[in-house]
Amino acid sequence: MKKHNVKSLADLRAAGVSIAWLTCYEYSFATALDATSLDMILVGDSGGMVALGHPDTVPVTMDEMIHLASAVRRGAPNKFIVGDMPKGSYEASDYDAITNAMRFIKESGCDAVKLEGASVMAHRVKAIVDSGIPVIGHIGLTPQSSSSFGGYRVVGRDSGELDLLTLAIRELEIAGAFAILLEATPPQAAKVLSDNAKSIIFGIGAGKFTHGQLLILHDLVGLYPSFRPKFAKCYIPEILSTFSSNLGNKEDLISFGRTTRQDGIHEITRLAVEAYVSEVKTKTFPSENYTYKD
Ligand code: KIV
Repeated sequence: MKKHNVKSLADLRAAGVSIAWLTCYEYSFATALDATSLDMILVGDSGGMVALGHPDTVPVTMDEMIHLASAVRRGAPNKFIVGDMPKGSYEASDYDAITNAMRFIKESGCDAVKLEGASVMAHRVKAIVDSGIPVIGHIGLTPQSSSSFGGYRVVGRDSGELDLLTLAIRELEIAGAFAILLEATPPQAAKVLSDNAKSIIFGIGAGKFTHGQLLILHDLVGLYPSFRPKFAKCYIPEILSTFSSNLGNKEDLISFGRTTRQDGIHEITRLAVEAYVSEVKTKTFPSENYTYKD
């Protein structure tokens, strides 16, 4: 599969093809993702929780993100990779924002960066875009500043919050963001926002009407033990029978594992990711069970 760029992703949106996006934080999982038809990867600061064991994303440093993103790039040379700007790496000044976004591009080989917020942060987005780096905005529930907004909760249920999200999308689009991630937004609100947007609107916990979906890899494979939000579907149960029946056809499991590596977690991950991509493309994910109420 040919590696995407900003234009080919916009072409998918224009053609009504839903875009499948998934997080990843290390090399071997990245090689499994590279072997699928997934459109793009986010090296999220959620890695601070699921890969580094912090209780939330706040402590993650820029150096840690560069380390994780570089490993993902080595494992997934054919994927469009987005580096997630961690808390403290962009808020203070345009200089910080450009310098740290540039590190993702030069040191880790990322294709774009994502950052949380609008308003003043839209200035940071503009500064990064003006330096030649594609940017994805992130609004709705923004984990880095969730304590200022009443913790982890659905955002956009009342008309005041919907107006603020509409304004945020406008600001980010004027600043030059080519895409915006809506997190934890009710499905009908996300539909109105997506229908009216010029950019690509991705959703995580935002229903099925956005132009693309994002999931956390560790939720998709059921690896993070602490917490699984309502929208996070684990695809392992439904692909395990395919995995075992593929194994059953093989006479020599040892050489099967040694020559093609299809006997374990790598192959299970690949099958689970393909199942996710297929449901995103057919717009069957997220079903009602994985969607917040309006
Ligand atoms: O870091 C991340 O994975 C994210 C998602 C939670 C949206 O930003």
